[in-house]
Amino acid sequence: MKYSDFGLVNTEKMFANAIAGHYAVPAFNFYNMETLTAILAAARKTHSPVILAASESALKYMGDDMLLGLIAGACIAPNEQIALHLDHGHSLDTCIHAIELGFSSVMIDASKLPFKENIKLSHEVAKYAHRHNVSVEAELGTLAGIEDENTKSEKSSYTRPADVIEFVKRTGVDSLAIAIGTSHGAYKRKSDDESLCFDILNQIAKQLPDFPLVLHGASNVPPAYVDTINHNGGKLRGARGIDTTQLKRAAKTNICKINVDSDLRLAFTAGVRETLKQNPAEFNPREYLSPAIANMTAVCIDEITHIMGSKNKI
Ligand code: G3H
Ligand code: 13P
Ligand code: ZN
Repeated sequence: MKYSDFGLVNTEKMFANAIAGHYAVPAFNFYNMETLTAILAAARKTHSPVILAASESALKYMGDDMLLGLIAGACIAPNEQIALHLDHGHSLDTCIHAIELGFSSVMIDASKLPFKENIKLSHEVAKYAHRHNVSVEAELGTLAGIEDENTKSEKSSYTRPADVIEFVKRTGVDSLAIAIGTSHGAYKRKSDDESLCFDILNQIAKQLPDFPLVLHGASNVPPAYVDTINHNGGKLRGARGIDTTQLKRAAKTNICKINVDSDLRLAFTAGVRETLKQNPAEFNPREYLSPAIANMTAVCIDEITHIMGSKNKI
């Protein structure tokens, strides 16, 4: 299936617009009807471009046919500027599979490989994807935290500004995820003093002016949702995200894609827990999933409006 048949677009124009307009396009992760519904409702209410991100594990969870059914059922129009993106693809085969399914953008995450092998694999993916007009993101540097069901990195390493020009030239990728102090999951910082390394970001942006950069692990972990979860039977002690002022600052630079998953999970889970705690006799999933969808839509709208700066950018 061609992605344009689903009304999807690749990320080329949305990134060019984001860099020119000094904002970032959100990449929100989905894995079922409820999460897809929430993200699309937020994009449509705010007239924001949006990247629907599906990880390898999310793809496995939904299954190819169900994923395609959900995307077809979403009735997306090209002028909505919605991309379907493979998040953290780890092999050429997975990227090819996603492209054959109808993804308009793929990430090849070979960041754990040595520099030369990362270049080789990212280049192979770019060569294949570009034949199908699909955008490609690669990563240099490593983020700490839980990235997917199988991958957990204890240590992070910042992207080396000296590497980025060679990497981008030799791979031919369309965007580059960089490591400047963000991490995956809900436990990102031990204290409020830990901040993003804008010095590295500025050095990279200087080397690659107007080239799209990507920030993974960029949830701010809203304390209100963490509290709601903890007050309703959950146990998320010490969860702490990236400072929102710093995220806003990053969105105004060459960072034109900001990945958020944990915040959406927290909002969704808060809705489920609160509803079930208040209504212990409830056992109709529609009754506790509806507030979860509403919470997730609200968090997407809030971040589009106050962090990404992408509201009304269609
Ligand atoms: O960065 C990765 C996302 O948070 C996806 O996580 O593999 O559990 O869907 P997942
Ligand atoms: P968070 O865990 O900060 O939401 O990061 C999500 C992400 O980077 C998906 O690729
Ligand atoms: Zn990520």
